[in-house]
Amino acid sequence: MKTVVSGIRPTGQLHLGNYFGALKNFVKMQNDANCYFFIADYHSLTTHPDPQNLHDNVKNALAEYLAAGLDPQTTTIYIQSDLPQTAELSLLLSMHAYVGELERTASFKEKIRKHPDNINAGLLCYPVLMASDILIHRADFVPVGKDQEQHLEMTRKFARRFNTIYGVEYFPESMPYNFGQDLTKVPGLDGSGKMGKSEGNGIYLADPDEVIRKKVMRAVTDQGPTEPNQPMAEPIANIFAIMKIVSHPETYDFYLAKYNNCEIRYGDMKKQLAEDIIAVVAPIRERIADIKANDVYLREVVEAGAAKARASADETMRNVREIMGIKPF
Ligand code: TYM
Repeated sequence: MKTVVSGIRPTGQLHLGNYFGALKNFVKMQNDANCYFFIADYHSLTTHPDPQNLHDNVKNALAEYLAAGLDPQTTTIYIQSDLPQTAELSLLLSMHAYVGELERTASFKEKIRKHPDNINAGLLCYPVLMASDILIHRADFVPVGKDQEQHLEMTRKFARRFNTIYGVEYFPESMPYNFGQDLTKVPGLDGSGKMGKSEGNGIYLADPDEVIRKKVMRAVTDQGPTEPNQPMAEPIANIFAIMKIVSHPETYDFYLAKYNNCEIRYGDMKKQLAEDIIAVVAPIRERIADIKANDVYLREVVEAGAAKARASADETMRNVREIMGIKPF
């Protein structure tokens, strides 16, 4: 049976990017694979969150992911910091990770640009910790969005390097996964870039219907095409991209044909898109509040998850230590 691992940083509410980029694919695999899903609280420490906020965000992320379809019966769900083995593996792998390659990581360069006042070593080593999350369970597949592609490449590089240096075939080549299709990038509705927490352009799974309608109706558009089959400006392409992900294929084809023969009415398209988003989000939102209020259930889920995750992690660490020469007398 294949092993599947994925995770999310607990930095706020879940948005459509998280859901369609990663979670939905993960959920589809839950019954056919050995699945691990964790809340990456170590990773979110790079931004120095207020401790109470961090705790609330972990709980929130857990409740939202359960509401969105994670099944504790089939998936091992845990909090990253409940598995300190990950931190040990990260330390060991960092001995073979070069500062130059870490400095060249796109996400690190972006952080330097956006937050020049907080370039900590945790940020630099972020890809090593992420590789450890994946390799601690020796994952075959990692359902993630497009923005994580480079981190997965680095994970494979660290795994191959370890195997080569120690002359073993221990770590697998963990592959990003989206059922044979390209990894998804859910764009924002503000005209450019991806939908993201720090971009402030998210449609959240906890958003009420009216808020979703308002956010979609405010999406940036243009005057409309003036000739048939005109290339789309980025904001328009983004609306179509979201429609392609969320709506029925016939709906998408209908509006694309309208665009291509210059009959598009963006107002109508946005109304349709808002309703299609609501159809996905509303049932999830209804479950979020109930799950969040049930502390006993949440505690049971993560305690059972941590115990199962530990069994897998302990085995990996026993092997890795031995391979590297850390052995009992
Ligand atoms: P994070 O917390 O930023 O996002 C969680 C997941 O959501 C996906 N995602 C998107 N997909 C498509 N379009 C978008 N606009 C969009 N925004 C977010 C992300 O690709 C991700 O799959 N480093 C990771 C967390 C992590 C992890 C791991 C993931 C730590 N260790 C090991 C997988 C395996 C992150 O920051 O994701």
